[in-house]
Amino acid sequence: MDLFSQIEEPEREELLALRKELEEQNYKYYVLNAPTMSDREFDEKMHRLQELEARYPDMFDPKSPTQHVGSDLAVSHQPSAVSKGFETVKHKYPMLSLANSYSREEIEDWVRKLPSGVEIVCELKYDGLSISLWYENGELVRALTRGDGQQGDDVIENIKTIPSIPRHVVGTPSTFEMRGEVLLPWERFEALNKEREEQEEPLFANPRNAASGTLKLQDPKEVARRGLTAYLYYMLGENLPGKTHFERLSTARKWGFNISDAIKVCKNVDEVMAYIAYWDTERKNLPVATDGIVLKVNDLATQEELGYTAKTPRWAIAYKFPAEKQLTLLKEITYQVGRTGVVTPVANLEPVQLSGTIVQRATLHNEDFIRSLDIRPGDRVWVEKGGEIIPKITGRAEREIGRPRADVALLPESAEYAFPDVCPECGAKLVRVEGEAAWRCPNEAGCPPQIKGKIEHFVSRKAMNIDGLGEETIDLLYRQGLLHNIADIYDLKAEDIASQERLGEKSAQNMLAGIEASKQVPWARVLFALGIRMVGETTAKKIARVYNSIDSLQWATAEQLTAIEDVGPQIAENIVRYFEDIRNLEILERLRQAGLQFEGESLQPSAISHQLDGMSIVISGTFAHHSRDEYKAMIEAHGGKNVGSVSKKTSFILAGENMGPEKRKKAEELGVRLMTEEEFLEMIK
Ligand code: IVH
Repeated sequence: MDLFSQIEEPEREELLALRKELEEQNYKYYVLNAPTMSDREFDEKMHRLQELEARYPDMFDPKSPTQHVGSDLAVSHQPSAVSKGFETVKHKYPMLSLANSYSREEIEDWVRKLPSGVEIVCELKYDGLSISLWYENGELVRALTRGDGQQGDDVIENIKTIPSIPRHVVGTPSTFEMRGEVLLPWERFEALNKEREEQEEPLFANPRNAASGTLKLQDPKEVARRGLTAYLYYMLGENLPGKTHFERLSTARKWGFNISDAIKVCKNVDEVMAYIAYWDTERKNLPVATDGIVLKVNDLATQEELGYTAKTPRWAIAYKFPAEKQLTLLKEITYQVGRTGVVTPVANLEPVQLSGTIVQRATLHNEDFIRSLDIRPGDRVWVEKGGEIIPKITGRAEREIGRPRADVALLPESAEYAFPDVCPECGAKLVRVEGEAAWRCPNEAGCPPQIKGKIEHFVSRKAMNIDGLGEETIDLLYRQGLLHNIADIYDLKAEDIASQERLGEKSAQNMLAGIEASKQVPWARVLFALGIRMVGETTAKKIARVYNSIDSLQWATAEQLTAIEDVGPQIAENIVRYFEDIRNLEILERLRQAGLQFEGESLQPSAISHQLDGMSIVISGTFAHHSRDEYKAMIEAHGGKNVGSVSKKTSFILAGENMGPEKRKKAEELGVRLMTEEEFLEMIK
């Protein structure tokens, strides 16, 4: 292999892998409200992808995450309570994102590209979700989420419950749009999570996710109860008053909109940096979450001259505050055993305030990580909130001599840190799989956290969704000897449950109803619920489409399994091993007797992508490359909907030769885009 292809090949692969990873993150962030990556990490990966795409222009793809903003549009595969039933409406002006920056240098670079001497408005960057409010003749008539930037969900009924958003305004132009951020204040967020904890419901990771989940609820009363608020930061429309952004916001404030008092006109980078320094500290006293500062060119004519890239305005940029981190004392390292037996070292810390919450435990990942940073109890360590979910240790301060506190047990200076060699929960000897950083407890059937973890996974919402069987109840029934594996769930009797202190008749009835209902859960979710290592929700679905019964799956070889999309040799091996274990076969037999769905429907044509999710598409005319029916099937396979006539809800028209004149006229009137078959094929390629 020559030197070029030695570099090129891996880089091209990296490019494709980054696209996939970023697309998945967009989905987790905007649709599931459960990001697994910090914004910073996301931006770094996005920069790398941009760099690689610039290096390999032949790999340009209009679908790349560098070319479009993430989407929150309602999609059919979401959990049932959220995000269905909203009308998807096209934005009058696309809702773009902002370019991010992290340093004075990056801000200086941006300012240098502006015409000299322009004023810059600094604002807080609110960390909620953006909303577009349409007013006609003084009435709020539409409230759209960002969606995919081109069209969003109309959540007006929920928006009307927010006291800080006016439903009527006076003295305004006849039509205009206000954009802003919907937020759940810290206080409300904490109260909501406390309530969810009591009801054993999954917690929201941060106020942004909570606000987003709330705005997509179907019940405005519940939305009202949760207490959302909003700040507005952008006015759009024709013939609006004012020549600068600042003037417009001041006018909007007079009209009754909630405009932050923290906006400031700055004349140079020094003033911008002073604003940033002030708010980086002061924001901790605000009632809502902020994650940076937004810088906007004040003069509207200059804004217009500067214009837009495909994803962002050139006249604005965000500065993101550094991930908050703190130094604190590491008191002790303990070890936590997960559902699959992985033993994770946990840092027990002197409690510290971090992004508005108190942190006292953080992950230390694995043995290699601890060794590479040479971390020991007694050290002062840096703790950070990465994806804002599980805090992590990212480094340690220079070691000082002497015991930091009487209650901290130190290792002798000379002793090396050692990972335990037996399971802290069951005493089994730990194993370290070659090529993996993790130590694992092999005692699957006898190690309490593994047993309980498997049951918790089995009953969880995306698996068998058994209400009334939360973590604490599982622990209780396990300790009473009533639950040892997932099959035991189906042997539970009303009197077993009702006789437990804390439970009673009502809980017993709820639980048994939930257990009974779980017998209807479809095969793909049953497969996911079994908890086979590395077989996640999506992989289980893909497997279940090919192997539509447990009997066929049981006899599949590793080689056959790897033919399924997303199933690599490791997953295939885990599946084969699972069915080789006689204990699993016994459990499966009991589950079959209990009446679980071990068979799926016959093969469904699977969706190829979700690219056209939420779009209504009209086909018109005759085509050269495929028949109309083939195009219809393609639209459906990519998540789109075929509709017969053109309306304002039509996303675009797939237009062939001799398109009907009526349709063409209607499309022109409504401004619906016509797409040629070549453009369409390129788009879904
Ligand atoms: S201006 C065309 N101003 O940040 C520019 N956005 O990362 C429109 N955001 O989608 C946005 N505070 O949801 C603007 N003061 C502020 C903001 C703000 C928060 C959000 C907004 C946007 C995202 C981009």
